[in-house]
Amino acid sequence: MTADEMKKQAAWAALEHINTDGVVGVGTGSTVNHFIDALATIKGRIEGAVSSSIVSAKRLEEHGIPVLDLNNVGQIAVYVDGADESNHNLQLIKGGGGALTREKIIAAASDKFVCIADESKLVDILGSFPLPVEVVPMSRSYVAREIVKMGGQPVYRDGFITDNSNVILDVHGLEIMEPIALEKALNNIVGVVTNGLFAMRPADVLLLGSESGTKTVLAKK
Ligand code: 5RP
Repeated sequence: MTADEMKKQAAWAALEHINTDGVVGVGTGSTVNHFIDALATIKGRIEGAVSSSIVSAKRLEEHGIPVLDLNNVGQIAVYVDGADESNHNLQLIKGGGGALTREKIIAAASDKFVCIADESKLVDILGSFPLPVEVVPMSRSYVAREIVKMGGQPVYRDGFITDNSNVILDVHGLEIMEPIALEKALNNIVGVVTNGLFAMRPADVLLLGSESGTKTVLAKK
């Protein structure tokens, strides 16, 4: 089974978590693309979707799923999104696709966050995947120097502009033992819009596609 087949398996399993009648929060990435295709099969039963990116909004619209403004829908019942890494507390690294800020906003505004991934994404310690940090363009060098002081090795994602017209530093070399503390410390650097650690608001459910079927991991309460 390929990684993409495992992603597809997890994405379709997420349909079981969708309440009918409501608005669904939709993330970004190759796993979420499978989820959008799955969501299209029940589109008559949902009100619409709030999207975390322009690219996901386009795919939703191509399927005839109404794309709604978060400001007009209030609290969202369920948000479905992928991840680059998850630890066993369902704290995540996200933003490989560059949509981290809107993803974090929708996750914050959702009652339940269902994360979908192939099983390779589950790790003991976050940080092998470079941590994306979205920054206001003029602050890029300053923020990079501050991150070096914290022990990271920031690499400018050359040529990439986010949907919010900002740029991304991918931070290598981190072994993230205290995800919440690092998430807060990075957010405190002036010029940082947000960072890809989802530790203060982790996922509630992790669906992992695998050779032996979809595994469900629940957040520890
Ligand atoms: C985008 C993300 C994605 O969820 C993450 O990069 C995983 O992507 P994929 O489903 O393609 O493996 O955070 O900003």
